[in-house]
Amino acid sequence: MIDAASHSRPVLEGLINAAGDTLSARAFVDEELYQLELERVFAKCWLFLVPAGEIPNPGDFFSTYMGEDPVLVVRQRDGSIAAFLNQCRHRGASLCRSDNGNAKVFQCSYHGWTYDTAGRLTAIPGEAQNFAQPLDRDEWSAVRVPRIAVENGLVFGCFDEHAPSFRESLGDAAPYFDAMFARSAGGLDSIPGAFRWRVKGNWKLAAEQAASDGYHFFISHASSIIAITPDGAPAPPKASTPNVQFSSEFGHGIGLLTDMSRLPVNDEVRTGPHTSRWLVDVERPEAAKRVGALMTTQNRPIYGLIFPTFGYLPSNHTIRVFLPKGPDEFEVIAWSVVPHEAPPEVREEVRVSTGRSFGALGIFEQDDAANWNDIRHALRGYAARRTRFNMQMGNGPVRVDETYPGSVQTSESEFGSRRFYRRWLNLLAADEA
Ligand code: FES
Ligand SMILES: [Fe+2]
Repeated sequence: MIDAASHSRPVLEGLINAAGDTLSARAFVDEELYQLELERVFAKCWLFLVPAGEIPNPGDFFSTYMGEDPVLVVRQRDGSIAAFLNQCRHRGASLCRSDNGNAKVFQCSYHGWTYDTAGRLTAIPGEAQNFAQPLDRDEWSAVRVPRIAVENGLVFGCFDEHAPSFRESLGDAAPYFDAMFARSAGGLDSIPGAFRWRVKGNWKLAAEQAASDGYHFFISHASSIIAITPDGAPAPPKASTPNVQFSSEFGHGIGLLTDMSRLPVNDEVRTGPHTSRWLVDVERPEAAKRVGALMTTQNRPIYGLIFPTFGYLPSNHTIRVFLPKGPDEFEVIAWSVVPHEAPPEVREEVRVSTGRSFGALGIFEQDDAANWNDIRHALRGYAARRTRFNMQMGNGPVRVDETYPGSVQTSESEFGSRRFYRRWLNLLAADEA
């Protein structure tokens, strides 16, 4: 692994200290750094695109971004999935302005160049009359995303033809990825309809939180916990729940609760009575049988990040991706997900409760967004940008535990944050190794 502390590019100097436990505030505001992120993080890593179940039929498409590159993800006639830049090769207008739908072709609305569902240029208005010779279709088709992986019903794409496979990029996070997404025989279904919204803040704050931060919950979300608790019981005091935190050198992070009876908001309040009963009677025992020690009825992931931007909150039944829009803004696309076997009344409770808690107007979501916006606000200041941030919590020895593959710490810890930022910096410094 590259020692990012030895890089020579000035913009990277001092971002992380030698011990890897303090971080420069510049990480969240610097435009030059942001452009490097687009080149060396978002154009290099595997990025989440869409649940495969959202585009089941030939011609079904979903419009999203890889970094700031607009892409269309389209189901092909042979059942495979292709993705290509949502950019016409004539002058660069969009091939499609809808978020999702079904199409036989994509026709640019500027001058009408037309592309098939694989992004291949098929028709040019006036071509025979106005061009000296037919245009080379191979040269002038939409730019394809060269690597697509569909894993556990989730579609990922990568612009880097030389990157390791998606599986290799998971590293020692693979058992956790499978525990979360292959825990039911039928896989996870997304409930149709994605939430999309924008947050004023830097994308890494949301990603890091998904990788590592159980610490904020009782403080940031205290009023939301009180609001949804039927008897108005006050939130527990600043509390740690029994937990294990896994972190990968590749920047992935997973938090597991080791006693589900201590879930900070119980499932009946969080989601609903049908879901609560079904989780205890059916879903958790079934998952424990399939996944084993990593997911017993009492020991389960409660948050997770697949680096750099794919987040999952299993207890809130939502997956999401963070799409950067400059150093101080990002878009969230979020879906509600349930095991395929979930009965209709559970699906309905999940649909409603996810929107209420972690949708665009969700009360928990707004608690988090308020913090990220608050950080952005201070970082407009000259002095504030020159500060360093502390991520030393839980900075003790990494524990190896045979129940939990890879490296874990077993208390409230910023272990995952430290590895997230270390991986980020290693990627930014990569061509200087
Ligand atoms: S920009 Fe698409 S046809 Fe001209
Ligand atoms: Fe939160």
